[in-house]
Amino acid sequence: MELANRHLLLGITGGVAAYKAAELARELQRRGATVQVVMTEAATRFIGPPTFQALTGQPVFTDQWDPRIDNNMAHIELTRRADAILIVPASADFLAKLAHGLADDLLSTLCLARNCPLLVAPAMNREMWAQAPTRRNIAQLQADGVRVLGPGSGDQACGETGMGRMLEPAELAEDIAAHFTAQRLAGRQVLITAGPTFEPIDPVRGITNLSSGKMGFAIARACRQAGATVTLIAGPTALPTPRGVARVDVRTARQMHDAVMLSLADANALADVFISVAAVADWRVANASASKLKKSDDGQPPQLVFAQNPDILATVAARANAPYCVGFAAESEDLERHGQEKRARKGVPLLVANIGHETFGRDDNELLLIDAQGSHRLPRASKTELAARLVQEIAGRLAEPGRSSASR
Ligand code: CTP
Repeated sequence: MELANRHLLLGITGGVAAYKAAELARELQRRGATVQVVMTEAATRFIGPPTFQALTGQPVFTDQWDPRIDNNMAHIELTRRADAILIVPASADFLAKLAHGLADDLLSTLCLARNCPLLVAPAMNREMWAQAPTRRNIAQLQADGVRVLGPGSGDQACGETGMGRMLEPAELAEDIAAHFTAQRLAGRQVLITAGPTFEPIDPVRGITNLSSGKMGFAIARACRQAGATVTLIAGPTALPTPRGVARVDVRTARQMHDAVMLSLADANALADVFISVAAVADWRVANASASKLKKSDDGQPPQLVFAQNPDILATVAARANAPYCVGFAAESEDLERHGQEKRARKGVPLLVANIGHETFGRDDNELLLIDAQGSHRLPRASKTELAARLVQEIAGRLAEPGRSSASR
């Protein structure tokens, strides 16, 4: 779990978004963190400490003079255990205190006495967010090394619409997890294909496959978490777009091919890495009908004629100045030999073989990495975990001496 063994101090200040901190506390624990909640007096007017006590299984502190803390040294006791302090929501008032180093209650004192990173999630009315003092305070906090998460734009509790809305708990959890991920792909551009393709037979029918897109989406997310700028070209799937990832939806193999080529032609986003996870249909129906096929009176089924689709991965790998290419393969037997053959045929430095062919749609997987040196196994784990490990492997290969000093 990505936040395993992390001790997070969740500070809650007075704002209506405080109720979302309850969901965040749960989400952080789901990812393996221990969460210790500290609330300001104002926060307790929006949501009660027992809620957080029940959710986290830890006592909730609001008072600097709480007798449960040894020697009245709450500011030392509570911060020294924390790997990070998160202020969710961070009110305009609390941000002002932080920017000026005030320490007049337990939470502000903890922030000033900390020796760990501080992340804040502002939440306020759009006019408060736009005011010069808030702008100055945010700039000062950023200059002081405080990470500011959001805010986003949207409907506000006061009935207005605009900037100042706190990020959703799931978005915050993603940003917090990224904060604890080694940024081994920082500054890199990664292009990924994922999911199945769909080849029409007529306007209501088509040929597709069982790919769920889960592995490709998990890899897109892991690349983003490791600091990369990610473009994800996805075949038909209902999966949500990972946070911070640019997604292009396509249907057919040829559309996927065109979207990949278009993305590679973008001089402002030259891909350093191409990861081809999509299960691309090898053939399309050459005589697809523009209108729905009808059963014929003589009982004759329609005759479909197939044409071969372009091999996207091989085409990308053959380009001059190609990005570092990673292929995927689902082989049913003699994995390593077939994998090495496919790796050579596609002209890619790294081929990732799914071990076993029951991977479609599952949440876990087992992989064999095949490169010029041989092969090694990534043992069975969740696709999320495997994606993170694969990203480390790719980052390691990109950093190898011998790769040009330019990123590709
Ligand atoms: N691939 C691709 N374009 C295609 C077919 C496959 O980019 N038209 C990519 C896949 O995304 C994957 C790799 O090539 O990364 C291997 O896919 P696979 O279907 O195993 O390979 P094929 O070339 O179709 O070989 P096989 O004959 O074994 O099906």
